[in-house]
Amino acid sequence: MSATTMQAAVLTRYGAPQNIKIATVSRPTPKPNEVLVRVHATPVTTADTMMRRAQPAISRLFLGFSRPRNNIMGTGFAGKVVAVGAEVEDFAVGDRVYGESGLGFSANAEYVSVAANGVIDWIPMTLSYVEAATLCDGPLTSYHFLKTLAELRAGQSVLIIGASGSLGTAAVQLARAVGAEVTGVCSTRNVELVTSLGANKVIDYKKDDFLNATDRYDVIFDTIGNTSFRKSKHLLKPAGTYLSPVLGFSLLLEVLYTRVFGDQKAKFDAAGMLPPATLRGYLQELTRLMSEGKFRVVIDQRYGLEEAVSAHQYVDSGRKRGNVVLEVV
Ligand SMILES: NC(=O)c1ccc[n+]([C@@H]2O[C@H](COP(=O)([O-])OP(=O)(O)OC[C@H]3O[C@@H](n4cnc5c(N)ncnc54)[C@H](OP(=O)(O)O)[C@@H]3O)[C@@H](O)[C@H]2O)c1
Repeated sequence: MSATTMQAAVLTRYGAPQNIKIATVSRPTPKPNEVLVRVHATPVTTADTMMRRAQPAISRLFLGFSRPRNNIMGTGFAGKVVAVGAEVEDFAVGDRVYGESGLGFSANAEYVSVAANGVIDWIPMTLSYVEAATLCDGPLTSYHFLKTLAELRAGQSVLIIGASGSLGTAAVQLARAVGAEVTGVCSTRNVELVTSLGANKVIDYKKDDFLNATDRYDVIFDTIGNTSFRKSKHLLKPAGTYLSPVLGFSLLLEVLYTRVFGDQKAKFDAAGMLPPATLRGYLQELTRLMSEGKFRVVIDQRYGLEEAVSAHQYVDSGRKRGNVVLEVV
């Protein structure tokens, strides 16, 4: 490998995991306001697999119509700064950093160049690269949905559907950290995990249908888009909120309708589109909770960069628990 090239997971065309090839490409050169990061760990998320398939189809508007505009996969990264642009003041060579490249993608690679005023922060000493790399997926998204969209408070009750995923494992802990009463929905094999994360109750979807529950909730957080506001609103308290990060046409209609009518609300947001300063604030809250022992990331599988296809196949299975990470160094 020369000093100007690197290995990267390159998406040759939208579709199957096999469309990802490990290729030798040019190493990025940081612009004046950018830092060049030697990537140590980078996650493969469910959102990454949707981008790989260009789903929903409308995403082609920003991903690239017939082929990916930025063809190096991945958005989350954790690593060490190896070069800084002339205008960068905050970061220095040798800093351990993590963050999210957003629509810049390019994180499933040996090096990524990111704006110093983007979603990037220092990794606390107690966190590993693997842990830090996952914070911008489930943890950041669940923090935004529960704290900002639902304004979840101590004493409220929350039903978390998909409690064993990246968003779910974070949501269970974050809801408990604010003092809410948590019920998680997961399968038999994940009951122990979800209980260990602090859930007060667990509904095993292999045995019971949560839609038949007799409890009522202030918040339903459907992390996997398994149900809908219409189907589950009988489980909500009178001014309750249904949240889902999985946008579909019916959720869009429900969000628009409940904005005007009724006290029960349906809400969606794209956490990655929030201003970088807001997201950095969330990350600092998450790392503070980690340092207080109130939050931990759940790592399921680790792969090498050269195993990016296998990592995508595993995430595509829909069975991952928490997070999947490529260890690049
Ligand atoms: N809007 C945003 O800003 C935003 C940001 C990030 C991610 N997302 C989206 O959020 C969604 C969730 O992602 P994720 O990574 O947390 O999870 P995921 O990978 O989509 O789901 C995996 C988990 O769901 C569980 N599961 C499957 N079927 C279930 C069911 N019927 N009931 C309960 N649990 C079930 C699986 O456990 P079992 O194998 O035991 O069933 C597994 O642990 C994705 O669609 C992603 O694209 C949105």
